[in-house]
Amino acid sequence: MALASTSLFLSRWLSAPGRVGAVAPSGRKLAERMASATLADGPGVVVELGGGTGAITSELVKAAGQDGVVVVEIDPAMCRVIERRFPAITVVQGDAFRLDQVLQHAGVTAVRGIASGLPLLTQPPERRQALLEKCLSVMEGGPLVQFTYSLFSPIPFDILRETGVRAERMGRVWQNVPPASIWRYSLAA
Ligand SMILES: C[S@@+](CC[C@H](N)C(=O)[O-])C[C@H]1O[C@@H](n2cnc3c(N)ncnc32)[C@H](O)[C@@H]1O
Repeated sequence: MALASTSLFLSRWLSAPGRVGAVAPSGRKLAERMASATLADGPGVVVELGGGTGAITSELVKAAGQDGVVVVEIDPAMCRVIERRFPAITVVQGDAFRLDQVLQHAGVTAVRGIASGLPLLTQPPERRQALLEKCLSVMEGGPLVQFTYSLFSPIPFDILRETGVRAERMGRVWQNVPPASIWRYSLAA
Protein backbone atom coordinates (compact mmCIF):
# COMPACT_ATOMS: atom_id res chain seq x y z
CA MET A 1 0.00 0.00 0.00
CA ALA A 2 2.72 2.49 0.99
CA LEU A 3 4.64 1.87 -2.22
CA ALA A 4 1.50 2.10 -4.37
CA SER A 5 0.49 5.35 -2.63
CA THR A 6 3.91 6.88 -3.11
CA SER A 7 4.08 5.95 -6.79
CA LEU A 8 0.56 7.37 -7.38
CA PHE A 9 1.58 10.60 -5.64
CA LEU A 10 4.74 10.86 -7.67
CA SER A 11 2.95 10.30 -10.98
CA ARG A 12 0.17 12.80 -10.11
CA TRP A 13 2.75 15.32 -8.87
CA LEU A 14 4.65 15.02 -12.17
CA SER A 15 1.48 15.87 -14.08
CA ALA A 16 0.20 18.62 -11.71
CA PRO A 17 2.84 19.63 -9.14
CA GLY A 18 1.02 22.75 -7.89
CA ARG A 19 -2.21 20.85 -7.34
CA VAL A 20 -0.75 17.79 -5.61
CA GLY A 21 1.82 19.72 -3.58
CA ALA A 22 3.79 16.72 -2.33
CA VAL A 23 5.71 13.83 -3.85
CA ALA A 24 4.60 11.39 -1.16
CA PRO A 25 1.76 10.94 1.33
CA SER A 26 2.06 12.35 4.85
CA GLY A 27 3.80 10.18 7.42
CA ARG A 28 2.01 8.52 10.34
CA LYS A 29 3.17 11.05 12.96
CA LEU A 30 1.88 14.04 10.96
CA ALA A 31 -1.38 12.23 10.25
CA GLU A 32 -1.91 11.42 13.96
CA ARG A 33 -1.21 15.00 15.01
CA MET A 34 -3.51 16.39 12.27
CA ALA A 35 -6.33 14.12 13.42
CA SER A 36 -6.00 14.95 17.11
CA ALA A 37 -5.91 18.70 16.38
CA THR A 38 -9.06 18.43 14.25
CA LEU A 39 -11.30 16.27 16.41
CA ALA A 40 -13.29 18.89 18.27
CA ASP A 41 -16.26 17.78 20.37
CA GLY A 42 -19.69 18.34 19.00
CA PRO A 43 -22.20 17.02 16.52
CA GLY A 44 -21.50 16.42 12.86
CA VAL A 45 -18.86 14.86 10.69
CA VAL A 46 -15.18 15.60 10.29
CA VAL A 47 -14.33 16.81 6.77
CA GLU A 48 -10.97 16.23 5.14
CA LEU A 49 -9.92 18.45 2.22
CA GLY A 50 -7.43 16.93 -0.21
CA GLY A 51 -7.45 13.37 1.11
CA GLY A 52 -4.76 12.07 -1.25
CA THR A 53 -4.32 8.34 -0.68
CA GLY A 54 -5.79 8.44 2.82
CA ALA A 55 -2.86 8.97 5.21
CA ILE A 56 -4.75 11.45 7.39
CA THR A 57 -8.12 9.86 6.59
CA SER A 58 -6.90 6.68 8.28
CA GLU A 59 -6.27 8.50 11.57
CA LEU A 60 -9.55 10.43 11.36
CA VAL A 61 -11.43 7.16 10.79
CA LYS A 62 -9.81 5.58 13.89
CA ALA A 63 -11.36 8.31 16.03
CA ALA A 64 -14.60 9.19 14.23
CA GLY A 65 -15.44 5.97 12.31
CA GLN A 66 -15.94 5.76 8.55
CA ASP A 67 -19.45 7.18 8.83
CA GLY A 68 -18.08 10.17 10.71
CA VAL A 69 -15.65 11.30 8.00
CA VAL A 70 -16.27 12.98 4.63
CA VAL A 71 -13.36 13.39 2.22
CA VAL A 72 -13.25 16.00 -0.56
CA GLU A 73 -10.60 15.18 -3.14
CA ILE A 74 -10.27 16.58 -6.65
CA ASP A 75 -8.26 13.78 -8.24
CA PRO A 76 -10.37 10.79 -9.37
CA ALA A 77 -7.52 8.27 -9.00
CA MET A 78 -6.89 9.40 -5.41
CA CYS A 79 -10.65 9.18 -4.70
CA ARG A 80 -10.67 5.57 -5.89
CA VAL A 81 -7.77 4.69 -3.56
CA ILE A 82 -9.59 6.14 -0.54
CA GLU A 83 -12.84 4.39 -1.50
CA ARG A 84 -10.99 1.06 -1.72
CA ARG A 85 -9.29 1.61 1.65
CA PHE A 86 -12.44 2.81 3.45
CA PRO A 87 -15.48 1.36 1.68
CA ALA A 88 -18.04 2.95 4.04
CA ILE A 89 -16.65 6.47 3.93
CA THR A 90 -18.20 9.34 1.93
CA VAL A 91 -15.71 10.49 -0.71
CA VAL A 92 -16.73 13.46 -2.82
CA GLN A 93 -14.76 14.06 -5.98
CA GLY A 94 -14.83 17.83 -6.10
CA ASP A 95 -13.15 21.15 -5.54
CA ALA A 96 -12.58 22.00 -1.89
CA PHE A 97 -12.61 25.70 -2.78
CA ARG A 98 -16.34 25.21 -3.47
CA LEU A 99 -16.86 23.57 -0.10
CA ASP A 100 -20.35 24.91 0.59
CA GLN A 101 -21.72 23.48 -2.68
CA VAL A 102 -19.80 20.21 -2.27
CA LEU A 103 -21.19 19.63 1.24
CA GLN A 104 -24.70 20.54 0.18
CA HIS A 105 -24.45 18.10 -2.72
CA ALA A 106 -23.26 15.36 -0.30
CA GLY A 107 -26.13 16.10 2.12
CA VAL A 108 -23.79 17.13 4.95
CA THR A 109 -25.56 19.41 7.41
CA ALA A 110 -23.21 19.58 10.42
CA VAL A 111 -19.40 19.70 10.49
CA ARG A 112 -17.34 19.59 13.71
CA GLY A 113 -13.85 20.01 12.29
CA ILE A 114 -11.96 20.26 9.01
CA ALA A 115 -8.51 18.81 8.30
CA SER A 116 -6.78 20.11 5.19
CA GLY A 117 -3.79 18.89 3.25
CA LEU A 118 -4.51 21.25 0.35
CA PRO A 119 -1.38 22.86 -1.10
CA LEU A 120 -2.34 26.42 -0.14
CA LEU A 121 0.96 28.10 -0.91
CA THR A 122 0.37 27.62 -4.64
CA GLN A 123 -2.85 29.66 -4.30
CA PRO A 124 -3.09 33.47 -4.26
CA PRO A 125 -3.80 34.96 -0.80
CA GLU A 126 -7.38 35.98 -1.75
CA ARG A 127 -8.20 32.37 -2.57
CA ARG A 128 -6.70 31.17 0.73
CA GLN A 129 -8.79 33.77 2.57
CA ALA A 130 -11.94 32.68 0.73
CA LEU A 131 -11.25 29.05 1.69
CA LEU A 132 -10.65 29.96 5.34
CA GLU A 133 -13.89 31.93 5.51
CA LYS A 134 -15.84 29.21 3.74
CA CYS A 135 -14.52 26.52 6.09
CA LEU A 136 -15.27 28.49 9.24
CA SER A 137 -18.73 29.41 7.96
CA VAL A 138 -19.84 25.77 7.57
CA MET A 139 -18.99 24.98 11.23
CA GLU A 140 -20.34 26.14 14.58
CA GLY A 141 -17.00 27.00 16.12
CA GLY A 142 -15.02 23.98 14.87
CA PRO A 143 -11.42 24.35 13.71
CA LEU A 144 -9.78 24.32 10.30
CA VAL A 145 -6.51 22.43 10.71
CA GLN A 146 -3.95 22.79 7.95
CA PHE A 147 -0.45 21.42 7.53
CA THR A 148 2.27 23.23 5.66
CA TYR A 149 5.91 22.63 4.80
CA SER A 150 6.53 26.36 5.30
CA LEU A 151 7.79 27.77 8.59
CA PHE A 152 5.01 30.38 8.50
CA SER A 153 1.22 30.28 8.58
CA PRO A 154 -0.12 29.44 5.08
CA ILE A 155 -2.87 31.99 5.79
CA PRO A 156 -0.99 35.31 5.97
CA PHE A 157 -1.16 37.14 9.31
CA ASP A 158 -2.70 40.30 7.80
CA ILE A 159 -5.65 38.18 6.61
CA LEU A 160 -5.98 36.59 10.05
CA ARG A 161 -5.99 40.01 11.69
CA GLU A 162 -8.52 41.37 9.19
CA THR A 163 -10.91 38.44 9.60
CA GLY A 164 -10.48 38.13 13.39
CA VAL A 165 -9.52 34.47 13.07
CA ARG A 166 -7.43 32.92 15.83
CA ALA A 167 -4.38 30.98 14.63
CA GLU A 168 -2.44 28.51 16.76
CA ARG A 169 0.71 26.73 15.64
CA MET A 170 0.34 23.18 16.90
CA GLY A 171 4.03 22.37 16.46
CA ARG A 172 6.27 21.05 13.74
CA VAL A 173 6.57 17.37 12.89
CA TRP A 174 10.25 16.90 12.16
CA GLN A 175 9.86 13.18 11.47
CA ASN A 176 7.76 13.92 8.38
CA VAL A 177 9.45 14.09 4.96
CA PRO A 178 9.60 17.02 4.47
CA PRO A 179 9.01 18.36 8.01
CA ALA A 180 5.61 20.02 8.34
CA SER A 181 3.93 22.48 10.70
CA ILE A 182 0.32 22.20 11.80
CA TRP A 183 -1.86 25.31 12.08
CA ARG A 184 -5.27 25.43 13.73
CA TYR A 185 -7.63 28.25 12.76
CA SER A 186 -10.83 29.03 14.59
CA LEU A 187 -13.17 31.91 15.22
CA ALA A 188 -12.04 33.91 18.23
CA ALA A 189 -14.46 33.33 21.13
C1 LIG B 1 -0.24 17.49 -0.24
S1 LIG B 1 -1.48 16.35 -0.85
C2 LIG B 1 -2.07 15.75 0.74
C3 LIG B 1 -2.69 14.39 0.67
C4 LIG B 1 -3.02 13.72 1.99
N1 LIG B 1 -3.94 14.51 2.78
C5 LIG B 1 -1.76 13.47 2.78
O1 LIG B 1 -1.55 14.21 3.76
O2 LIG B 1 -1.00 12.56 2.42
C6 LIG B 1 -2.76 17.43 -1.43
C7 LIG B 1 -4.00 16.75 -1.95
O3 LIG B 1 -4.97 17.77 -2.22
C8 LIG B 1 -5.65 17.44 -3.42
N2 LIG B 1 -6.23 18.69 -3.95
C9 LIG B 1 -5.57 19.72 -4.53
N3 LIG B 1 -6.42 20.71 -4.86
C10 LIG B 1 -7.65 20.31 -4.46
C11 LIG B 1 -8.94 20.92 -4.51
N4 LIG B 1 -9.13 22.12 -5.03
N5 LIG B 1 -9.98 20.23 -4.01
C12 LIG B 1 -9.81 18.99 -3.45
N6 LIG B 1 -8.61 18.37 -3.40
C13 LIG B 1 -7.53 19.02 -3.88
C14 LIG B 1 -4.58 16.81 -4.29
O4 LIG B 1 -5.13 16.04 -5.33
C15 LIG B 1 -3.81 15.99 -3.24
O5 LIG B 1 -4.38 14.71 -3.11
